[in-house]
Amino acid sequence: MPSATIIVDNDFVIDKVSPRLFGSFVEHLGRAVYGGIYEPGHPTADDNGFRQDVLALVRELGVTVIRYPGGNFVSGYRWEDGVGPKGTRPRRRDLAWTSTESNRFGTDEFIDWCRAAKVEPMLAVNLGTRGPAEAGDYYEYCNHPKGTALADLRKANGHAQPHDVTLWCLGNEADGPWQMGQKPADEYGRQSREATKLMTAPDLNRPLHGSVKNEFIVCGSSGRAMSSYGHWDQAVLEECFEKVDYLSVHSYISPNKIDIPTFLAFADTTMANLIDEVTAICDAVAAKRKSPKRIHLSYDEWNVWYFNPDPPHEPFAEAPCLLEDKYTLADALCVGAMMITLLNHCDRVKIACLAQLVNVIGPIMTRTGGPAWRQTTFYPFADGARFGQGTVLRQVVQTPTYKVADDLVGLLSSCVIRNDDGAVTLFALNRDLENALDLNVDLRSFAPLSLAAWTVLDGPDLLAINTEAEPDKVKPHSQTGGQLANNRLTLQLPKASWNVIRLQARPS
Ligand code: AHR
Repeated sequence: MPSATIIVDNDFVIDKVSPRLFGSFVEHLGRAVYGGIYEPGHPTADDNGFRQDVLALVRELGVTVIRYPGGNFVSGYRWEDGVGPKGTRPRRRDLAWTSTESNRFGTDEFIDWCRAAKVEPMLAVNLGTRGPAEAGDYYEYCNHPKGTALADLRKANGHAQPHDVTLWCLGNEADGPWQMGQKPADEYGRQSREATKLMTAPDLNRPLHGSVKNEFIVCGSSGRAMSSYGHWDQAVLEECFEKVDYLSVHSYISPNKIDIPTFLAFADTTMANLIDEVTAICDAVAAKRKSPKRIHLSYDEWNVWYFNPDPPHEPFAEAPCLLEDKYTLADALCVGAMMITLLNHCDRVKIACLAQLVNVIGPIMTRTGGPAWRQTTFYPFADGARFGQGTVLRQVVQTPTYKVADDLVGLLSSCVIRNDDGAVTLFALNRDLENALDLNVDLRSFAPLSLAAWTVLDGPDLLAINTEAEPDKVKPHSQTGGQLANNRLTLQLPKASWNVIRLQARPS
């Protein structure tokens, strides 16, 4: 049987995990909003039209921050359409997804929903078809306390208190030819810089009112496969380095047309390299300025996405079924690997958003008028959000490898977190599809630990999915058989499995 070892030392840390690493994304796209989080008339809907069955699953998922309203959608969005009395809100074409947007759900509803879900809102401004002035207006509507036209409009719309949104995305995927208002890097960088000025005040460090410290996310290249990758980010940051806090990165992997071992290696062969490369670019821009400032990464779209054709629907339908991928057990393992990569890079990735949350490439599925259920990918994300908070430790790993193109990829992918409550969590993925993996973990310099729990997500069929009829076909189960003596843990990771191993301090 193949075997692997991990040595981990309590004193050797990567960094503290930002709670914002466990974010997600709700775009006006398909049934993400309508029939997803919002469905007046649904048996579980409250007076606001918020589906309580979905809200319960969102809370269980442990999401901490949610990006809204897009995505590609935001690049043609007029935020004014989505506020005020619902009866007067205009219906508009959404050219990003060839749909009709009713605007029955807008910014105020989103903020109310975030408060109910207990998540932080992360709003995107339109820097596609619009510019800094409209971004400034949107900011004024959301955050200005009172006494201006737009703050008073918010008050008249039932929100006297400012929304106090602190995280602001400056547009979306501005280098993409598919993006409404695509721009060259220098033009986009200047627009972003000017937008920050019009949103806050000339001095970014002096917020308009006491409680808000704004943080800005500027668009990096929209993917590692883009021809703009590698130079876009630098050109953008040259224009706005002083004004922004994060650079966004996006990655999706489709399981179509690749074998499962290659698919499961994506987190190592692409995501990890992308993080290192983009971080180097950010630091090169800082170096040119002799600046100690560090731009962090906002990995605000990541997931498995099949890119399959959508079910037939009329162009410009309202809330059609779009991007409703059904996730397999293999997809969940891939999401687990991505979660591990994000955690192991928590020194530079400070925000990450699983794209998306409900129905649209989401961990939660619903039937409009019917129930909501957990997709397979729900589990590794929920495990990360629940047990990934704390400090990530450096590991020395020895693992058998396999070849993917020019890369040697470990059969074992792992992450060790010292949780704030004193427990230690090991996330471990066995990418061997045929064999269990013997694992030995040397937990040197920890106080004596005991094995508290071990859960495994695996199964006989890597293509198994959860459906409305069989919502629990794929779900984690608890596992026995591990041993921990003298802070040396030994266990056998089942073949093709996602493992969460929880260790706790032994009472003295
Ligand atoms: O998440 C779906 C889409 O993927 C988003 O709208 C866009 O930003 C990305 O290309």
